[in-house]
Amino acid sequence: MINLIQNSLDALNGRPEPQILLTAFENESHVELIVRDNGTGIPQANLAKIFDPFFTTKPVGQGMGLGLSLCFRMIQGMAGEVSVDTAEGSHTQFTISLARPVAQA
Ligand SMILES: Nc1ncnc2c1ncn2[C@@H]1O[C@H](COP(=O)(O)OP(=O)(O)OP(=O)(O)O)[C@@H](O)[C@H]1O
Ligand SMILES: [Mg+2]
Repeated sequence: MINLIQNSLDALNGRPEPQILLTAFENESHVELIVRDNGTGIPQANLAKIFDPFFTTKPVGQGMGLGLSLCFRMIQGMAGEVSVDTAEGSHTQFTISLARPVAQA
């Protein structure tokens, strides 16, 4: 969550009316965590690369390009899923979905 929120803060730098919306949903089987910002958005051409280690669009010294690859690995390690919905100049939304632990009999 910290990685995602930091990315949102970076994408909102200098933007008018910056907003970050954090939402959590749960049902019997899953928990969903959503981080949404109205920042720069991610260009279509970059979308396939954002989860790659060391992919960054930030200036040298400001980003290592490791945040999302770490997120992806951590979520995978919990058998979860992460998805992104974005439009350039409009918004970016990351959704994390995690299965709830099954109660032991
Ligand atoms: N909320 C967002 N809005 C716009 N672009 C984003 C957003 N989140 C990620 N990105 C894009 O994805 C790239 C990769 O993100 P990632 O968190 O992996 O690395 P980083 O933020 O550049 O560096 P680090 O997390 O290591 O400090 C970013 O450089 C940026 O281009
Ligand atoms: Mg980051």
